[in-house]
Amino acid sequence: MLKNSAAILAVVSLVLSILIGVALSRRGAAPAARSGPGVREPVIGLSMDTLKEARWQRDRDYFLERAQELGARVRVQSANSDDTRQIQDVKALLASKVDALVIVPHNGAAMAAGVREAKLAGVPVIAYDRLITDCDLDLYLSFDNVRVGELQARYLVEHLPGGRGRIVRIYGAPTDHNAVLFKQGQDIVLEPLISRGDITVVHEDWAVDWDSSNAKKIMNAALTKGAAFDAVLASNDGTAGGAIQALKEANLAGKVAVTGQDAEAVACQRIVNGTQAMTIYKPIRRLATRAAELAFDMALGRPVVANGVVSNGMEAVPAVLLDVVVVDKDNMRETVIADGYYTRDDIYGAAGKE
Ligand code: BGC
Repeated sequence: MLKNSAAILAVVSLVLSILIGVALSRRGAAPAARSGPGVREPVIGLSMDTLKEARWQRDRDYFLERAQELGARVRVQSANSDDTRQIQDVKALLASKVDALVIVPHNGAAMAAGVREAKLAGVPVIAYDRLITDCDLDLYLSFDNVRVGELQARYLVEHLPGGRGRIVRIYGAPTDHNAVLFKQGQDIVLEPLISRGDITVVHEDWAVDWDSSNAKKIMNAALTKGAAFDAVLASNDGTAGGAIQALKEANLAGKVAVTGQDAEAVACQRIVNGTQAMTIYKPIRRLATRAAELAFDMALGRPVVANGVVSNGMEAVPAVLLDVVVVDKDNMRETVIADGYYTRDDIYGAAGKE
């Protein structure tokens, strides 16, 4: 199923690229041609917010693999969820004369300052997975994040008896533009149901820095209120993990459906064990590989082609958005396992199921 949807997506992306392709050329200083003997290989700077969630380690590794295959050198920095440190990382990468910059911002608004520095240095910037707002950005590469939120909420509603019930909502980091997009997607599904009285939100809050311990606190606050609930709309697997820990301590794990996102191994294990209902698989290898290819081309001053545009508050940023897949206990094998993201043993072995 995943292979089919991936194939359809690839065809759709190609057609879209041709139809509404946006030819990008480096907007800064024209780079020198870099081919032939004695000419140095392009250097790409990769500035990451964090490597805390397992997915970011995969993003980095796949990115490095593809960039190196193409003949680029990559300098990686990770800021440990600290805005000041991430701006310093960007400045250091620019000072080391990178030819292109790929940034996963901790704070999409604060990082506009980093993009301005890059512009002054004539270095093109790709916002990777998370948008950087209010700045002159060359390219945004991500998944369809509004759709992620819609899929999470739709799954939850479809698994509530009669599509009705009381829920707790745990949003992501308020500093991450993606968290806003996930909520936006969830709202598209939930708002009409909330107005109709089919869904009641008994508690909601934002988990600072996407931290699972903050999500656990939010869950505990919901439990302390004493209002009964049927499901937890957690925005990613990390926050789902924190919520499930709190539910376990209250003897409720497995009794209320919990959503997630990222298809982390631990989350997939929780799904087969019944304490988490679903996750969203975002094919990280495709994203990171594409980003490495686009960054490589931009580093060489070659035009690249986007398949859409996204407003970042200041301008319409050329964007490449990939699709995502819902994963639950019924399609684990056909999705993350069939795609080679995990082996059967990674999930069922570690979950004690096989
Ligand atoms: C990403 C999610 C991730 C979260 C926390 C978001 O921007 O889209 O995949 O779980 O950050 O790192």
